[in-house]
Formats: sequence, structure tokens, C-alpha cells
Amino acid sequence: MADLIRCRRGIVLGTLAPLLTLVLAGCSGITGGEVQSANELAGDNARSIWNLFVPIFWLSVVIFVLVQGALIYAVIKFRAKEGDPVPAQLHGNTKVEVAWTIAPAIILAVILVPTITTIASLAEEPDDPYVVDVVGHQWWWEFDYQDEGFKTGNVMHIPVDQPVEVRMTASDVIHSFYAPNLFGKQDLIPGRTTHIYFTAEETGEFYGQCYEFCGVQHANMHFRIMVHEQDEFDEWIASQQEGAIEPEPDTIEAEGKEVFFQQGAACHACHAIDGAVAEDGTEAVAEVGPNLTNLGDRPILGAGSLENTPENLRDWIRDPHESKPGNEMPAFSESQISDEDLDALVAYLSSLR
Ligand code: CUA
Repeated sequence: MADLIRCRRGIVLGTLAPLLTLVLAGCSGITGGEVQSANELAGDNARSIWNLFVPIFWLSVVIFVLVQGALIYAVIKFRAKEGDPVPAQLHGNTKVEVAWTIAPAIILAVILVPTITTIASLAEEPDDPYVVDVVGHQWWWEFDYQDEGFKTGNVMHIPVDQPVEVRMTASDVIHSFYAPNLFGKQDLIPGRTTHIYFTAEETGEFYGQCYEFCGVQHANMHFRIMVHEQDEFDEWIASQQEGAIEPEPDTIEAEGKEVFFQQGAACHACHAIDGAVAEDGTEAVAEVGPNLTNLGDRPILGAGSLENTPENLRDWIRDPHESKPGNEMPAFSESQISDEDLDALVAYLSSLR
């Protein structure tokens, strides 16, 4: 309902431009809930693109009205009446043809100037940006805080009012990083490094989406960006650097931690949990799937295919293909992880913050 009201507000307030954007953005979008929209600006990069889009849109409206107006006028005014003779039959008109070649060329040349200026300004590296390395995988996002020495998955945290450099590459196929409220889209290309520079101007949770078709679960390749005040962000960094929470002995979480390393589950074969060590000394350092050090802190599972609740996490581990067919995580039957063990595992993973 809130989405509907927002949609309607867009229609009433806005002019055709935001309406069109809303339609293209699909209002609430497939992510559900929050508005993932290029006309609710919360970053300088998105604002530059919007400031380019709006005048070009209105210029197009003017041209549309003029051309269609002339067409409608001609159709009505010169409509054949009964008894009219057959009109003179012409072939070509040099003046008109030159005019309709030159006029669009001039219009495009005019549009080119602010377009190139905007592209250049978006590509300009700000002074001393905060760098987050991003790797696109089929179908999840790896966020690598190299200077701080940890990685996380699918949810990126950044400070507000601080220029950020997203430094990107891909491990398999081409993906595209896009959070419409904050910045325009940019491809992630295997073997190459690409960049997005932006400054988030508001704190909050922003939705993002892979924007380049990258396989069957392209649509389920969402991410979130959490924008914090600087002190809150510093706290988050510090808590990540501390590694995973160690469960109290003899709790269900402690049991879950052992299940994580057990032969049936062997979650550590694919996933890392920083600082988690099994009783036999095995460490969880694999990087096949997302790093789970702060899984309980994330609002989403499976790169946004599910909300992160204990029930969904349970279902996800049992059969990740139910909600996200084609993803690389195997399903775990009861012979691999018993119901009881699964409860413990879910309790452990949910406790990781
Ligand atoms: Cu990754 Cu589409």
C-alpha cells in the first residue's frame, strides 16, 4: 500500500519525467519493500545523472509535441475532400531533406555537450576516496575491505558524506553494479578493473541490483548498501575486524558451530567465518561462497532472494535451489544434516553479527 501511495504521489507531484522513471523502475521493483528508484536521490553521482536526464527529457517532450503537432495539423488541414483532384505527385524535396538531417544533428550535438561533461565528471577520481573492492560472482557480491583486512557478502557498508570508490571486477561473467538512488550502473568485467565514484548524502539502507544479464539467477543478484554516520561506520569496521562471535560453551550456538565443520555439512569447504576454529583446529577460510562472519547482521540471504530469518535460513540450507534454482550451493538432506543439527547450525549462523 505504501508503495502504491508513493507511486501515486509520483504521478500527482511529478511531471512525466519522474513518472517515466517510476514506470521503468517498476515502483517497488522485484526486491519488494523499499523504493529502488533513480528519482529518489541520495548521492551526488545519481544527482549528476538526474540533472542530465531532466533537461534532455524536456527537450524531447518539446520536440515530440512539435513534430506530432505538425503531423496532426497536416492530417486535419490537408485531409482529402470529396471532389478534390489528385494532388501533384512529387519525388523528393531537397530543402526538407536537408532540414530534417541538419536539425536532429544540431539537437544531438547540443545534447552531446552536457553528456560528455557529465561522463567526464563521474569518471573523475575524488580526493582520498574510501575504497571498497567488489567482485561479482554468479550470483552474489563480494565486498572486500582490503585496508581493514576483511570481506563480506551482499551487503556493503559505507560512511555518509565521504567520497567512496567502488573498485570492481568479476570472477566469471560480466555483471553490472547499480544502486539507482546512489549511482549509475557500471559493468564488472573479468580481468579488468572498473570504478564508480560516489558520495552518499543520506544515511540508510539502499537497494541495488545486478544490471547485466549474467545467467539464470541474474534477477536474484541483489545487494544492499548501508550508509552510516562516520562513528557508527567505525564501530562496524571494528566489529568486523574482531572476527566472528565465539559462542558460549554448551549452548545451541556452540553445537551449531561444530555442525558447521562436521563432515555432513562441511560448510567450511566453501564459506569463511573469520576467527572460527573447530575443536580439531580446522579453520573456516574458504572463499567459494560468501564470507559468513556477520551473516546474522545481514537483512538478506542468497543475494536478496530471501529475507534473512531463521526459518528462511533453514529452508535455504536444506534446499537453496527451491528459492534460487541454479545457484552453486548444494542442497543438504536430512542424512547430511539432521533436523536437530540444522536447528543448531541456524542458531549459530544467526548469532554471527
Ligand atoms: Cu550478475 Cu546479472
